[in-house]
Amino acid sequence: MSAIVALMASAAEAVPYLDESLPVEERIDDALSRMTLEEKVAMLHAQSKFSASGCPRLGIPELWLSDGPHGVRHELNWDDWDYAGWSSDSCTAMPALSCLAASFNPELARKYGAVVGEEARFRKKDIMLGPGVNIYRTPLNGRNFEYMGEDPYLASRMVVPYIQGLQANGVAACLKHFVLNNQEHARDRFDVEVGERPLNELYLPAFKAGVTEGGVWAVMGSYNKFRGTHCTHNDTLVNKILKDQWNFDGVFVSDWGSTHDTREAALNGLDLEMGSWTNGFNWSSNNAYDTYYMAQPLLAMIRRGEIDESVVDDKVRRLLRLRLRTNMDRKRPWGAMNTPGHLAVAREVGREGIVLLKNENSFLPVKPGKRIAVIGENAVRKLSIGGGSSELKPRIEISPLEGLRARFGDENISFSLGYASGDPNFSIELPSKYDADSLRVAALETARNADMVLFIGGLNKNYRQDCEGDDRLSYSLPFGQDSLIADLLEVNPNVAVIIVSGNAVDMPWEEKVPAIVQSWYLGSMGGVALADILSGDFSPSGKLPFSIPRRLEDCAAHSFGERGYPGVDEQFYYDEGLLVGYRWHDTKKIPARYPFGHGLSYTTFRYYGLEADRKQYAPGDTLTVKLTVTNTGPCRGAETVQLYASQKNPRLPRPVKELKGFRKTELQPGESKEIIIRIPVSDLAYYDDTMQRWVVDDDEFSIQAGSSSTDLRAKARFRVAGSLAAR
Ligand code: BGC
Repeated sequence: MSAIVALMASAAEAVPYLDESLPVEERIDDALSRMTLEEKVAMLHAQSKFSASGCPRLGIPELWLSDGPHGVRHELNWDDWDYAGWSSDSCTAMPALSCLAASFNPELARKYGAVVGEEARFRKKDIMLGPGVNIYRTPLNGRNFEYMGEDPYLASRMVVPYIQGLQANGVAACLKHFVLNNQEHARDRFDVEVGERPLNELYLPAFKAGVTEGGVWAVMGSYNKFRGTHCTHNDTLVNKILKDQWNFDGVFVSDWGSTHDTREAALNGLDLEMGSWTNGFNWSSNNAYDTYYMAQPLLAMIRRGEIDESVVDDKVRRLLRLRLRTNMDRKRPWGAMNTPGHLAVAREVGREGIVLLKNENSFLPVKPGKRIAVIGENAVRKLSIGGGSSELKPRIEISPLEGLRARFGDENISFSLGYASGDPNFSIELPSKYDADSLRVAALETARNADMVLFIGGLNKNYRQDCEGDDRLSYSLPFGQDSLIADLLEVNPNVAVIIVSGNAVDMPWEEKVPAIVQSWYLGSMGGVALADILSGDFSPSGKLPFSIPRRLEDCAAHSFGERGYPGVDEQFYYDEGLLVGYRWHDTKKIPARYPFGHGLSYTTFRYYGLEADRKQYAPGDTLTVKLTVTNTGPCRGAETVQLYASQKNPRLPRPVKELKGFRKTELQPGESKEIIIRIPVSDLAYYDDTMQRWVVDDDEFSIQAGSSSTDLRAKARFRVAGSLAAR
């Protein structure tokens, strides 16, 4: 039956798989029963760089995929990484996920997901390749900007609404990279050696939340190995954990080129093989799709009886289910592209994610009438391009310089580049065409003649900066920025340093500058969002989603020599175990320069009367924590109250405290609000690797409310009576 005949038949006598009144699983069974083995296998692998075939004879559509996660990537050629050169594929670039995480605002994550979903739908995409929730383990990781920070609870709370907002458009989110892809360096070769407890307590939870709470329709396997087998076809991870334990009923997709073996891939849970013979990033323009592991080689193995056809049936079922949720759902919305509403969300996320790290004597906001020297390449550089697969072609990208000029007036702003990193049109670092000395001399002159300096530097999306494919080579700021900042301070001490990055950087000048702002890759409305904050039109409310260590050696992953990073003998050893990020800094008493959860405001907040509703709980209870927050300062602002739990005498060692709740609330000057946060007692569990279960001990616990992980302002103690093997 041709596709046309099938569709005509559907109109006349309702072919069951096209009949929307029937239950989805019945429709899937019906479609499957009509397919030949060859047709089924044809659905299991790519037919181009970013698409996979359907079953044309039955009118089952192709799948179109796109990166993700900050907007819809421009179109690429069918068979290579070159741009297709369309003029209708520019998008709204959203701020990077590190910024979204810093907003600590799950409702904003939902709006963010909805923007990406609407644009993806409009662009006729079926699967968006994102969001990413790999835990921030080292500040050198080139892709941290695409992830949601170092804490699994924060990442979980942010990823669920993102997925729901996106998928409401009939477009699948594809949660990536499952799992332990915590560095880019040697990502496709290395095997991660990690204990059961950190695996379960740190690296899996955000994926689990995305699957079990977010209901994500696709998950992408990572490049690296776990216990000797590539994560893309790893029985433990994919069959046992993802599909059995978490009941994932969606499609498990390979990363581009992360499949390595037909039998393993087929048997260990891979449903859709993409990008073989490429590194997914830049090399290989030639894709011989028939030779993919899950193409002719798989067909041959089934024909020889080495793999059962039922293995393929399960995969096709999943692929059909995904289509019924997306491009075969006739009721899905139509989407929208580049709307003013999308730009408004981009601006809001930027504004809520920017973190004020330091602000001596209220140096910021910028006071009216100041002559401002804006210095630094990131004031003008296009930062949505580059960085690897997350690159975007925004229809609008307002630079910091443009945003500041619009807000403060051209006459009040002078600009000097200060340093230059290379051609922004290339994602690899090229020698600058500028002469470093003359740039510096010009910048010093500009700074000397101004009342204040806004230095806008940081990293960029060049290879070995914030970019896929490898990691940063150093913790320091690149391109001579540290010495430039030192020189600027000599001629004008009124310098605010604005770091544009998705990663922590070293700050040797920290004590000498009055203000430091952690900005991010802010996308289309970046300059406007930054001006919103620097002008004081909005008070900053972002909180760090990762710790900024004083020295690289103070970071857990770098405390165990090369074993921990970059790894030895093709192994990465996660010797720090559970102590990642603030869990390490707090437990080992190695203070971070700026701790997880830190972020200042132009106003001040006081916390009153933290209390838990009871003194004792049973393991199945939920505790209700209440406190009052008052805005005690001069302007409107938003505060994120963070709740950290500690256990007194755990049976197995635990970090001294862990984030278990947070709430962002906006307050006018003088206003007070009562904050109520509920925490299921089962959330206080740890993973007991001896029993392979989550356990809550019979013990004393406390909850501390903080404005950061170290600025703890109130404490409530309680007991859990009776232990529980939870979840
Ligand atoms: C990346 C993925 C991306 C894919 C397709 C890979 O290199 O790791 O995140 O979705 O390429 O561009």
